[in-house]
Amino acid sequence: MNQEKFLFFSLNPDFSLAKDTAKKLGMDLSPIKTTSFADGEIFCQPSVSVRNKKVFIFQTLCKPVNENLMQLLISIDAFKRAAVKEINVIIPYFAYARQDRKTTGRTPISAKLVSDLITTAGANRLLTVELHSDQIQGFFDIPIDHLVTIYHITEYIKKNIDIKDLIIVAPDFGATKKARKLSTLLNLPLAIIDKKRDEPNKAECIHIFGNVNNKNCLIIDDIIDTGGTIISACKLLKNSGANNIYVCATHGLFNGPAIERFKEAYENSIIQHIYVTDTVEVAKNEFISTISISSLFADILEIYLKNEGSISNLYAKYIKNIENL
Ligand code: R5P
Repeated sequence: MNQEKFLFFSLNPDFSLAKDTAKKLGMDLSPIKTTSFADGEIFCQPSVSVRNKKVFIFQTLCKPVNENLMQLLISIDAFKRAAVKEINVIIPYFAYARQDRKTTGRTPISAKLVSDLITTAGANRLLTVELHSDQIQGFFDIPIDHLVTIYHITEYIKKNIDIKDLIIVAPDFGATKKARKLSTLLNLPLAIIDKKRDEPNKAECIHIFGNVNNKNCLIIDDIIDTGGTIISACKLLKNSGANNIYVCATHGLFNGPAIERFKEAYENSIIQHIYVTDTVEVAKNEFISTISISSLFADILEIYLKNEGSISNLYAKYIKNIENL
C-alpha cells in the first residue's frame, strides 16, 4: 500500500488489532509521542511530518476510558493543527455508548457528548464496531462506517464448536437482533432471556423464551463488562436444564470482578469457553479465546485507501464463505 499519502497511528503502540491490521495492509504504524505532565495533563505529538497526509488513528476506548478518550481528542487536535488532509478515527470499542438516552430524570446522554467532542476536535470520518445501539450513528454529522463482527464470529464458531444440539441464546432483548442473525447463519434455534437491571452493573436474568432443556447453549452479547449478565444468564440456563454453555461477545471488557467470576464458572463447568473479538486487548487465559477481526479492518481500510469498493459487497462475500464451510 502507498505509505506516501496515508499514515497509520495507534495511540497504544502495543494494540494488537492496530498492529495486525497494518501488517495485513503492508503498512507500518508511524510513531506518535503520548505523555502526561505531572498534574495528569496529556500531550500528544506525531513524530513524523503529517502535512497533507490522510491519517488513520487507532484508539479503542477501554479502561482507563477517560484517559484514552482525552488522549484521542488531543491527538486529533495535534493532527488538525499540523495541516493534515483528512483525519480518520478508528475506535474499535466506543465507550459511553450505553448512555445513549435519558433512562430517568436528570441523566446525561453521554454518547452524544462524546460524539460531539470527537467531531469538534476535528475528526473527518469515523470507523467503529458495533455501537451499543445503532442509532448512535446519528449523533455524528461526519461519515461513519459501523462495522459488524457477526460474520467473523459465525465463521469461527462453525470451525471450532460442535453445533449439534446447539441453541443460540440472547441474554437480553437488546441482544436479540445479533442472536437471531447468528441463529440464521448457523441454521440453529433461538432462545431469548428477559433481563432486568435495577442499577448499573447489577443484572438479573429472570425468564427464558424458548426451550433449552438438554441443549448446548451459545450465548451472544455485544459487551461483556463485569460479567453480571452472562453469569446470571448461565445460572438461569442451567436451572432450565441446559448442558454445555459457550459464550461469545464482540467487546470483551472484563472489568471489576469479571475474570474472577468467569474463572469460578469455568472451574465449576458452568461455562465451557468464552470467545471475544480483539476490539479490546484481553489477557490470555485458558477459558477465553480471541477471534481476530484484523482481516475485516484490513478489508475495509483497503476500500478507504483505494477509494473504491463496497462494504455491503464485502459482507456478501463473507456470507458466501460461511455457506461454503
Ligand atoms: C447491556 O445491555 C449490554 O448489552 C451487556 O449485556 C452489558 O453491558 C454487559 O454488562 P455486564 O457484563 O456488566 O453485565
